[in-house]
Amino acid sequence: MIPPHERRILEAHVRGIKLSKLALETRELNEYETSQLRELIKLRVRGVPLQYLTGTQAFYGRDFYVNTGVLIPRPETEGLVERVLSLLPPPVPGARLRGLELGTGSGCIALTLALERPDLWITATECESAALAVAEENAARLRVGNVDFLAVSESPAEWQYGELPELDFLVSNPPYLVRADAIAADVLEHEPHQALFVSEEDPIFFYRFLMDLMEHKVKARGFGAFEIAEQRGGAIMELARSRGFGVEIFKDLAGRDRYAVVRKP
Ligand SMILES: C[S@@+](CC[C@H](N)C(=O)[O-])C[C@H]1O[C@@H](n2cnc3c(N)ncnc32)[C@H](O)[C@@H]1O
Repeated sequence: MIPPHERRILEAHVRGIKLSKLALETRELNEYETSQLRELIKLRVRGVPLQYLTGTQAFYGRDFYVNTGVLIPRPETEGLVERVLSLLPPPVPGARLRGLELGTGSGCIALTLALERPDLWITATECESAALAVAEENAARLRVGNVDFLAVSESPAEWQYGELPELDFLVSNPPYLVRADAIAADVLEHEPHQALFVSEEDPIFFYRFLMDLMEHKVKARGFGAFEIAEQRGGAIMELARSRGFGVEIFKDLAGRDRYAVVRKP
């Protein structure tokens, strides 16, 4: 059994209509739709996230296509987008601000920022080709023209970023969990591990690389905004300070340390 509202979401998906139109629907499901719905319910009972079954997740008021190659965009990541928007200077006619997102996944961060601020140009990097294909699909569906995508290798290396001009800001929600962290079983079983996990020996590995990019690629007085694991706020503050950057940690709506904002002097 699944909750009634989930059944309705799946039925609307099978019918190819919006959930808001389902109550007005009087036509019985045909044989094909009935068996499709039954299949989807079976998968849901086994714990497959609803978003992978419908192929969509809302993020910052827009629908993003998702499949099992990408992390399902999370509400707390909307908070990261909010933070970047609040840090950007107001648009200046004729001027473009340059940003870089490391680890774009579905593209939810870079594409949302690009749509909210057409004066930005954002390069979005990703090491998984399946994820890059999803981000590109979302860029096409949402008609975003001010993001480009860069395929990079799994081991981050600065030379891969060598061609980029100087940046005004960095943004990233990098893999930040270690196996010992408490993780819900359905997340662990169904979402891509390369999007979730970093090595236990060096949980702030990606932040160290992001600080290297801050140092070498970001303009003076530029900033970086990063999503973090709540238990790593202290280590990330120390890391940023040791590189001579200003740093502040902010909480998400659940009151957990979730965002690090790093500023270049
Ligand atoms: C936590 S997910 C975030 C996805 C998306 N930005 C979001 O917020 O929903 C991290 C992403 O980083 C990608 N990734 C992992 N290592 C990477 C690397 N070295 N360079 C670029 N992307 C990487 C993963 O494949 C995954 O898509």
